[in-house]
Amino acid sequence: MTCGLPYASGPMHIGHLRTYVPADVFVRLLKKMQTEVVFVCGSDTHGTPIVTAAEKADVSPEEIFQKYHKHYLETFPKLNIAFDNYGTTDDPENHHRTKQIVQVLEDKGYIYPKELESPYCDNCGRSLPDRFVRGTCPYCGADARGDECDQGCGRYLEPGEILNPRCAICGSPTRPVTRTHYYFRLTDFEDFLNDFLNNVDGTKNARNYALGWVKEGLKDWCITRDLDWGVDFPGDEDLTLYVWVDAPIHYISSTEEWAKGTGDPDEWEKFWKPGDGRIVHYIGQDIVYHHCIFWPSMLKGADYNLPDSIVASGMVKIEGHNFSRSRGYVVWIEDDYLDQGLNPDYLRYYIVSHSSQTKDLDFAWDTFRDKVNNELVGTFGNFVYRALHFTNKNFGKIPEGETEKRVQERIASTIGTVKAGVNEYELKKVTDAIMGLATFGNEYFQENKPWELAREDLEKCGDVLYNAVAIVRALAILIDPIMPSVGEKIWEQLREETDIHGVQLDEATSPLEIGHKIPKPVPVIDKIDDDLLEDLRASIEARIRDAEAAERGEKKVTKDIIEFEDFQKLDLRAGKILECERVPKTDKLLELKVDIGDETRTIVTGLADQYKPDELKGITALFLVNLEPKKLAGIESQGMIIAVEKADEEGIWLPVTIEGVPPGSKAA
Ligand code: MSP
Ligand code: ZN
Repeated sequence: MTCGLPYASGPMHIGHLRTYVPADVFVRLLKKMQTEVVFVCGSDTHGTPIVTAAEKADVSPEEIFQKYHKHYLETFPKLNIAFDNYGTTDDPENHHRTKQIVQVLEDKGYIYPKELESPYCDNCGRSLPDRFVRGTCPYCGADARGDECDQGCGRYLEPGEILNPRCAICGSPTRPVTRTHYYFRLTDFEDFLNDFLNNVDGTKNARNYALGWVKEGLKDWCITRDLDWGVDFPGDEDLTLYVWVDAPIHYISSTEEWAKGTGDPDEWEKFWKPGDGRIVHYIGQDIVYHHCIFWPSMLKGADYNLPDSIVASGMVKIEGHNFSRSRGYVVWIEDDYLDQGLNPDYLRYYIVSHSSQTKDLDFAWDTFRDKVNNELVGTFGNFVYRALHFTNKNFGKIPEGETEKRVQERIASTIGTVKAGVNEYELKKVTDAIMGLATFGNEYFQENKPWELAREDLEKCGDVLYNAVAIVRALAILIDPIMPSVGEKIWEQLREETDIHGVQLDEATSPLEIGHKIPKPVPVIDKIDDDLLEDLRASIEARIRDAEAAERGEKKVTKDIIEFEDFQKLDLRAGKILECERVPKTDKLLELKVDIGDETRTIVTGLADQYKPDELKGITALFLVNLEPKKLAGIESQGMIIAVEKADEEGIWLPVTIEGVPPGSKAA
C-alpha cells in the first residue's frame, strides 16, 4: 500500500488527508481481514516545489525539506496514520533504485537524447523548468504552469509545450534556448497501457481518464531537467531527473527501507518483483496521469511488478469553494485543527464518511459539527453509553443471555457490507453500514425498554442487555479502523484484555463472556463546542478576506474601525511573569503565573514552540486581563499575553515587553 508522497515544501493541509486518511483506514481494515500489508510513504523532496520554497525562504533545498519532513513525520502519528516506513526521496536507497531503473530503461533502448527548446529568463539568468514558468495551456487556453495545467484542464504538459511562456518569478517573457535532453519512449507502451488500464483494479475515474489520454495519443516523455537539485541523470551529470521519475520509485525504496528493518533485506521483492504480491496506490485525482501512464510504463520497461489497484480520490473543497492556499480556502492540519484541541478521529470520520471516494469532498465547519454532534455523539456514542450504563447499573457484569437471531444476523450482514466496501474501495459504504448498526442498536433498545424490564422481569432485562452489549462490542471492532482512539476506549470499557487493533472483523460475532465485569462507562465521543466552532469559522473568514484584499492589490487590510469606547473596554496592564511551565502533553502551551499588580493570574499561552520556560520567566510584558476566561488543555486561562508576529518572519511571535514598569501599570 502506498500513498501519494507529500511535497516537503509546506505544511500538511486537509487536501493531503483526502489521500492519507482513506488509505490508512483501508490498511487497518485489510489487517482485520487476515491480510499482510506493508504501508509505505515518504516525503517528496525534489522538483521545483522544493526549490521555489527554498529560494523564497533564502535557505538550501535540504533545509526546507528537512524542516517539513520532520513536520510530516511528527504529524502523521497525531492523526493515527501509521506507516510501516516513512522515508524521503533523497534517501540513498532512492538515489540508488532510481539510477538502477533508469539504467535498465537505457540499456533496453527506452531512453534517447533529443534537442529541446526550453524557456530561459534573461532577467533572472537561468533556464526555467516546470513551475518556474507560466503561460497558456495549449489544450484549453487556461493560464497554466510549466508542467501542468493547474487551473484549467489538469493535463500534464511536456517541457516546451506551454504557449506564451513567462518567468514565474519575475514575470518577464522568456527566450527559448536549445539543449540536449533525454526522453522516455512512452509511445512504445501504448498497447501495453491499453491492456493494463483495462485490467487494473481500483476506482473507475483513474482508469477512465487514463484510457482517454491513451486514446488521444501519447507523446514521448522528457525525463531530464536543467536543475541542480534532484537525482543526477546517469548519462549526463549536468542534468537531473524530472521529479516524477524518482518520486514514485520511492514507493519501492521505502519498501526496501522497511525490509532492512525486518531483518530480511530481500523482503521488498515479494511485492515489487513479478509474483503474487499486490500493489495498491492511493492518490488524488490530480496525479492520475503520473500514476496511470508514466509509472506503469516505467515499471513494465524495467521488469518490476505492476500496480494491482489505483485508487484516486476526488478533490477537497473548502466551504463550497475550490481548494486554494493563496485564496485562503485551506484548513491547515496543525494550526487550524490539532492545535485547537480537536480530536483527529473526528476528522478521519468526516473524510471517510462524507462522500464517495471518487467524488469531491466539501469540508465545512458546520457540517463538521453536525457530523460529530448528531452522528457520532447522537447515534453512535449515545447507544454505546446507554447499553453500558444500563448493564453496569443493573448487573455490573455481562448478564446471562444469548445473541438473538436477528441481532446476530444484523451484525453479520454489517460485516459483509464492510468487506464489500473494502473490495470496492468505497469506505463511505463502510461508515454507513456501521452507523446503520448503531441505529439498529438504538431501535433495539427503544423497543425492548430494558429500563422497564429492570423492574418487571430481570431475567428478560439481562437478555436484552446481553444483546445490546454484543452490538457495542461489534461496533468497537468495526469503528476501530476509522477511529482508533474510539475503538480503544470502548474496548477498555468492555474490560477486554487483547489489543483491539489486532482483532479480526469476523470476531465481532463471537459470543460474550457471561459474568465479565462491566464498569461504569464514560462517553466515548464529546460534542463540539459552539464557541470553538465560531472561532474556527471566524479565523478562516479573516484569512479569506485578507487573501481577497491581497488579490485586489491592496495591502493586508486593517480590521474594521472601532469606537474609542470599544477600545476603552480593554484592560491592558503590565504583568510580570513569576512562573512559566510547559503544559504536559501539548506541543505549544505554556502555563504562566503573572503578577498583574493586585493579584496573580494563571494565563495559558501558545508560545512553547518558540520559547523555553526560562526565557519568559521574569520578563514584564503587556497583558489583556479582562478577556473572558477560557479552558485550554483543562487549565483555565484568565487573560492573554500581547505579542506581535514579526512581519518578515511568519510564525515568529515576540511578547510586547515593558521592562522596568511596575506590575499592574495600565496601558491606554
Ligand atoms: N509529490 C506529489 C506526489 C508524488 S507521488 C509519487 C504530490 N504531492 S502533494 O503534496 O501535492 O500531494 C500529496 C497527496 O495529497 C497526493 O495524493 C495528492 O493527490 C493529494 N492532494 C493534495 N491536495 C489535494 C486536494 N486539495 N484535494 C485532494 N487531494 C489532494 O502531488
Ligand atoms: Zn488546459
